[in-house]
Amino acid sequence: MRKVLVISDIHLRSKKRNIIGLDPLRQFTEALSHALKKHPDAEHMILIGDMTHSGHVSEYEMLKRATNTYKIPITFMLGNHDNRSNFKKVFPEIPLDNEGYLQKKISLGDDVLICLDTLNSSPQLEIEHEGKLCEKRLEWLEQELSQAKNKRISIFTHHPPHNIGFPGMDKIKLSNSADLFNIIKKYKNTKHIFSGHVHRSISGNTNGIGFTIFKSTCHQMPMDLLSLDSSLSVKEPAAYGIVLFDDQSIIAHTEDYQIAKQADPSNLDAIPDKL
Ligand SMILES: [Fe+2]
Ligand SMILES: [Fe+2]
Repeated sequence: MRKVLVISDIHLRSKKRNIIGLDPLRQFTEALSHALKKHPDAEHMILIGDMTHSGHVSEYEMLKRATNTYKIPITFMLGNHDNRSNFKKVFPEIPLDNEGYLQKKISLGDDVLICLDTLNSSPQLEIEHEGKLCEKRLEWLEQELSQAKNKRISIFTHHPPHNIGFPGMDKIKLSNSADLFNIIKKYKNTKHIFSGHVHRSISGNTNGIGFTIFKSTCHQMPMDLLSLDSSLSVKEPAAYGIVLFDDQSIIAHTEDYQIAKQADPSNLDAIPDKL
């Protein structure tokens, strides 16, 4: 089994400007330390967008300081709270696709992980929080899919390309998801889609393909399926994702590292019978 970790919606911000009383950097570094201790066998870690809260250079510098000596290889992805040009200023060594987008293919044995750049533009207006894949990015995707016909594909997007039942978030999903699925459907080997953006653990099936969305390492979306507000936040324990790949399956776990920390170690003894 091969293991990949997925960290979602870090929302790094200076200490003075926390988010509902949470320090995003502290939350993130706690996740990094936990992952290194509990999952040192992970081959890769994907930061699936909204790495910063405001896309400021100082926030990317904070990200760089937190990750530059990390022992697991990291793939960076952009979300609606990110800023592509500021990211490039701080991470000039990270390769972009030929058109300057932060898109990447990760090869993992018989699996190919395709990380897409769904950032529409800087988030000055609410409408721009929705994601978009322009023609150039879609062309890149199609090229990668055609080259990986014999591999099992997992696609990673910050914005889910489907509704998830939170009306506020469904308004700002990937806006041109039909374009994405039209390409995916030409090839039969895309088996799973992983996303962030919603700040909750969600799974299901869309267009015949399995999907998983992971919680944020910082603030979470309250479980309110009626509100039209996309900015609601709650201090629930944070989590990150663990994805396992074997011959038969793609398996998604949520590592609720802050709940695990709360558990009393004396209660961790094995029970007499199986669970
Ligand atoms: Fe986010
Ligand atoms: Fe987002």
